[in-house]
Amino acid sequence: MKIMITGAAGFLGSHLSEKYVNEDHIVYGIDNLLNGNLNNVRTLLHRKNFKFIHDDIRNRDLYSKIPNDLDAVIHLAAQIHVDRSIVNPEETFDINVSGTMKILEYARMNDINKILFASTSEVYGSAKYVPMDEDHPLAAQHPYGVSKIAADRLCYTYNETYDLGIDIIRCFNFYGPRQKDSGYGGVIAIFINRVLQNKPPIIYGDGNQTRDYMYVDDAVNAYDKVLKSNDNPGKYGINFGTGTEKSVNEIAELILKYSGNEKKLSTIHVDARPTEVQRLFADISKAQKSLDFVPKIEFEQGISLLMDWYRNYKSELWLY
Ligand SMILES: NC(=O)c1ccc[n+]([C@@H]2O[C@H](COP(=O)([O-])OP(=O)(O)OC[C@H]3O[C@@H](n4cnc5c(N)ncnc54)[C@H](O)[C@@H]3O)[C@@H](O)[C@H]2O)c1
Repeated sequence: MKIMITGAAGFLGSHLSEKYVNEDHIVYGIDNLLNGNLNNVRTLLHRKNFKFIHDDIRNRDLYSKIPNDLDAVIHLAAQIHVDRSIVNPEETFDINVSGTMKILEYARMNDINKILFASTSEVYGSAKYVPMDEDHPLAAQHPYGVSKIAADRLCYTYNETYDLGIDIIRCFNFYGPRQKDSGYGGVIAIFINRVLQNKPPIIYGDGNQTRDYMYVDDAVNAYDKVLKSNDNPGKYGINFGTGTEKSVNEIAELILKYSGNEKKLSTIHVDARPTEVQRLFADISKAQKSLDFVPKIEFEQGISLLMDWYRNYKSELWLY
């Protein structure tokens, strides 16, 4: 297959690029490096079947650099950080909505019928009921979540109007190697990074807010099942997660325990963030029924794998 992956130098994009390059597909990886890092795809750059294009999905000229006979598009590129979206909502909408529109138009003009769009569980806002299925109201409050609702509904419209075959993938939070661990990063990565440097985890609010955390290998498997399905299982949105929830307090405790630093470090609580979602927890029965999707990595195992990666490989990654 010839596959275009937008956001290829990011966290999930680098794992998916690696998988498809190793399976001998031809991968066109697009990234403007807003949040991604070329080091994430460093080992792929010399491979003949990986073409990295440093460009912005909003740039019309980009599309003349990509062949028009692609078999599939995996559209992950986005401004993903809630805090940044609050500071600069216009930028977030421009990338996440207008950028997605450019990708959909490219697909429509070139008759590409396999498009995976990275929506997110953040479109639902805080849980009105749990577990949250695909019919849960779309009630995001922050600009990031609302921009994702707009893009998610844009995909729906393109499916209905042009019969485009887009799968709208709503993953709950995922974590693993190469996720950003400073500034605007994922909570698990930030905590591990701090604790391994003998710094305490900082928790916003009381720490009872929960999420459904899936190891990145399971997220890759989820995308892969959709990509290789002959059907359009995400036509109306499809959730992927573990079907369990963990609080920020539980995450901090586990990481402290595995670091051996639990006696020396204790968590610090600071003011809650006003628009933070309080509870997210997936109903994955649609993915189970339509794709036999079963997440394989338990939370404790995932944390332990990630801490091992930090101890053994993280510094190596940034030497290049
Ligand atoms: N990380 C999660 O827990 C999670 C959960 C659900 C959904 N998602 C979605 O999955 C996708 C991938 O998330 P991630 O965690 O890998 O994020 P990421 O930030 O690591 O990857 C996104 C990539 O897109 C690139 N990018 C941003 N704007 C661009 C533009 N205008 N043109 C080209 N490239 C651009 C960034 O540089 C980055 O490398 C995102 O769409 C995100 O909304 C993530």
